[in-house]
Amino acid sequence: MAALQESSVAKLLGAGRSGKVFLVESQSGAIARKIFYPDTIANIIHYFFFGSPNPYIWNKDAIACAFYRRKILGELVQFWFGDRLTVTDALSTKWNQEFKAYQIDTEFIKGRHVSLLQPCSRERAIELPALVRGIMLPLQKKLIEAGLDGLVWQAGKGTPTALNNFLLASDTSNQPVFVWIDLESGVPALFPINIIALFSFYLPKTLKYKRAMFDDVDNYKLKRYIHNYQVELVANIGSQKYQEVLGWVDRLEYHQDKWKSMRRVDRSIQYQLKKGAIDEQQARWYSEHFLLWYTRGFWNIFQKIINQLLIQLPITLVHKIINIPYLQFFYNLWRFILSQRYRINIVRNYVARRIERWQNRKHLINEEADSLFQSLEREKSSEYLTDFGVHLGIKLFVKIIEYVLVPLLYFVGLINELVL
Ligand SMILES: Nc1ncnc2c1ncn2[C@@H]1O[C@H](COP(=O)(O)OP(=O)(O)O)[C@@H](O)[C@H]1O
Ligand SMILES: [Mg+2]
Repeated sequence: MAALQESSVAKLLGAGRSGKVFLVESQSGAIARKIFYPDTIANIIHYFFFGSPNPYIWNKDAIACAFYRRKILGELVQFWFGDRLTVTDALSTKWNQEFKAYQIDTEFIKGRHVSLLQPCSRERAIELPALVRGIMLPLQKKLIEAGLDGLVWQAGKGTPTALNNFLLASDTSNQPVFVWIDLESGVPALFPINIIALFSFYLPKTLKYKRAMFDDVDNYKLKRYIHNYQVELVANIGSQKYQEVLGWVDRLEYHQDKWKSMRRVDRSIQYQLKKGAIDEQQARWYSEHFLLWYTRGFWNIFQKIINQLLIQLPITLVHKIINIPYLQFFYNLWRFILSQRYRINIVRNYVARRIERWQNRKHLINEEADSLFQSLEREKSSEYLTDFGVHLGIKLFVKIIEYVLVPLLYFVGLINELVL
């Protein structure tokens, strides 16, 4: 797991619940560097379930598991799907002192997310079903069969947002080629949109593992699977790779056991140690005096809340109120009410910005975006847009009346329940 030759961080490729991914130019070519970071919502969930933020940020064994899982799955996925799906190979992992978090370097994939179903993308309407039915659903089945239970979360079981974990690498041939780029979860696998998946899969598995699943692998089942399919696997990936896979599985088991068996209190102590908030000696001492550790934690949280609520929040609010350009605001509001041209302009700009956003995200190809821009300019749409502008304009007042004025009249007793 040696770090790659140092390189320059060039461009942010994307960010999700678990990490920020940068495109880095190294001597051996372009790589995608994922640096794990504590997203606020994910943080709260992690603290609740595990007592510390996302383990990939701070836990050496967790990041090692991420590395070996990608290695193992790279081979298994080839066995299952041939050239139709690949996994971005893990190149190295390293502690990033600047971000105070672990990072994982993977291959960079030149591709795009699949087109969502929308009226413009008729020609590309096959992409989504090709990914969901052709790849994600069968992948979930294979993962469960091989004991890679926790991985189905990233493969999209009950979670449509996992579509973003796959890129379409080539759409030139008849057969689309997909790449699974994200195998590391941001939150434990307990929040699927599909409630049936929660009750039929995630909750029973939580009981099996006796903890909220977070990329968990049933190593015993995985080993059995690899032995059962030895002949087919050797025929597919060769006997040398097969031996390598066995080695990776052993290392995954070792690191996962170490990571998952850590006491709750030690997780939060180790996190603070990694952040530099305490030193080794303090970490050892608090590990033996966990009540004092929790007291310290609660005191810190209490101080933070007081600081945020009583000092920072009022300062920010006052700052915001003072800095509102009132004259400009009322002038624009006046123009919005009186001038039809101004209203059309606002709405046109808004729609144009949205078209650009979709174009940048490659959900619209250039021709589709151009045709939308043209119809935006056309006379007919302006009439509609004006009405839409007025609709937007009065919406604010209607909502104020609905949610503030009417309830207020009711509370001071000027209207009764019937009128309310
Ligand atoms: N190997 C890669 N090659 C190209 N783009 C990538 C790669 N890995 C991630 N990305 C981009 O970064 C985004 C976020 O990465 P992801 O690993 O899904 O983060 P998270 O785990 O926080 O959801 C992806 O949606 C994708 O656009
Ligand atoms: Mg993701």
